Amino acid sequence: MTDWQKQYEIGETPWVKGRPHPHLTTPPGLKIHGRWLVPGCGLGHDAAALIDCGADEVVGLDIAPLAVEQARRLWQGNPLIIFESGDLFTLENGPLAGTFDGVWEHTCFCAIPPDRRKDYVRSVAAALKPDGHLLSCFYLRPWDPDEDQTQGPPFGSTLEELDALFGTDFILEKEFPPTSTFDGREGRELIRCWRKKA
Ligand SMILES: C[S@@+](CC[C@H](N)C(=O)[O-])C[C@H]1O[C@@H](n2cnc3c(N)ncnc32)[C@H](O)[C@@H]1O
Repeated sequence: MTDWQKQYEIGETPWVKGRPHPHLTTPPGLKIHGRWLVPGCGLGHDAAALIDCGADEVVGLDIAPLAVEQARRLWQGNPLIIFESGDLFTLENGPLAGTFDGVWEHTCFCAIPPDRRKDYVRSVAAALKPDGHLLSCFYLRPWDPDEDQTQGPPFGSTLEELDALFGTDFILEKEFPPTSTFDGREGRELIRCWRKKA
């Protein structure tokens, strides 16, 4: 099991790119408004980009207190972004449940242990208001075919798996490749836009 706090302490954070996912710097394919959640927000670059995309308020949640501390420092000038230290798997019964119009998923789903993916879906659905949207960038193929697919995080996924997991709580509205991405991730990601089932 990954010790995320330790990763930040020793600076082993290859996912930190110093900028948001490039897809969020172009029209993301969904009208962004209201209150958004970024689970596993890291240093908060995506959270800040969501404000630029039209969100009124963004909550970045991360289990690593050091990530949250660094994110708060980085974005202290922006009162529309709130960073919370906590475990996304407690969202269902916590004070954030049912308070979000949207959730942005990016490299959190692929970071959690695969056997907790059902819990991820339930937690994210619980965080959303009725009819809320999940805009997700899935890192489907982090590894080349000749590499050990079981090493991770990141852990890959298949479309069939995503359909089965998210189909319980969400309706898939559209899917498309990201408008652009980080070097090395070309052809490995898919954007999916889901609406929470009523
Ligand atoms: C691969 S990193 C990606 C961070 C960020 N999304 C980015 O792209 O820069 C995964 C993040 O998820 C956080 N994380 C892992 N498990 C979590 C959990 N159960 N609840 C909240 N955050 C979690 C980690 O601390 C880490 O910051």
